Amino acid sequence: MAQKISLTRYLVEKQRDNNTIPSHLRLLLEVVARACKSISQAVNKGALGGVLGAAETENIQGEVQKKLDIIANEVLIEANEWGGHLAAMASEEMEGIYLVPNRYPQGEYLLLFDPLDGSSNIDVNVSIGTIFSVLVKPEGAGVSEQDFLQAGCKQVAAGYCVYGPQTTLVLTVGDGVSMFTLDREQGSFVLTQENVQIPADTKEFAINMSNMRHWAPPVKRYVDECLQGKEGERGKDFNMRWIASMVADVHRILTRGGIFMYPWDKREPEKPGKLRLMYEANPMSWIIEQAGGAATNGKTRILDIEPSKLHERVSVILGSKNEVDRVTRYHAEA
Ligand code: AHG
Ligand code: MN
Ligand code: MN
Repeated sequence: MAQKISLTRYLVEKQRDNNTIPSHLRLLLEVVARACKSISQAVNKGALGGVLGAAETENIQGEVQKKLDIIANEVLIEANEWGGHLAAMASEEMEGIYLVPNRYPQGEYLLLFDPLDGSSNIDVNVSIGTIFSVLVKPEGAGVSEQDFLQAGCKQVAAGYCVYGPQTTLVLTVGDGVSMFTLDREQGSFVLTQENVQIPADTKEFAINMSNMRHWAPPVKRYVDECLQGKEGERGKDFNMRWIASMVADVHRILTRGGIFMYPWDKREPEKPGKLRLMYEANPMSWIIEQAGGAATNGKTRILDIEPSKLHERVSVILGSKNEVDRVTRYHAEA
């Protein structure tokens, strides 16, 4: 039987063989993975662990927090603050940045996360996840929010962990995408797929159709053509999926292709989109690109967007390359 490669071994070998992962980044990734294991444990306990339901608080975006949003946020902070690999963290669930306390050594990395993605699915036992992104702190003394405002193309690592029927960790450090499955008996993540590639074409789209009447014309045009199926412009039938957990939708796309859209719409015209650039769009876009797909806001490649604030929102269209290119063309033609 082929030997199982643990995440630890995978990272050690990467560091040793091609030096794609400096030792502090390796430590960081191991710590994040350990935190994800612990979140996975809490998710699995569900009602037995008293982790379901809403907390009595709202986050900075005015969304009611779920108990698990807060638990996952705390787990990630506690796991990461003492190792000496980080300068600061930022989270969808915290208004400002979190500085590593003075009593611990300061590292060179910045960690950003959506501790619990797909919160509306927690209580109904549907897949949820954690998304993270790693940047290098710019030179200079101290750390400020400004240090975090780097375009997605500056990321040095990104990943997510999906808590579904299996717990799967997906990772990139810029040389392709690898997947690890949590082996609960061993208590470790095991490499289960390397060099993940998204098919360039697809017959599957993911968008919240209930917002259709608010969409911009290019998005409407694209989805209308999908719905026309064999008889229409596209000449083939399409299937639709919407899990309402970006992690789960993106994971499906990485596995079998597809396009995911949470576009700008005219409900709140001033708001660029629902999803968050720093915690959701950037890490997912890099993973998608590393697997041969594409990611845009319709006009600009997501990874080229210069952020102007930590909790910035963005319109997101990502997945199979040819489909994303088509939606981009519809935007250009509009
Ligand atoms: P979060 O739970 O971190 O707030 O993110 C939820 C996001 C994303 O995961 C998902 O694709 C989208 O919101 C679902 O939104 P709708 O409920 O509007 O479909
Ligand atoms: Mn989210
Ligand atoms: Mn979240």
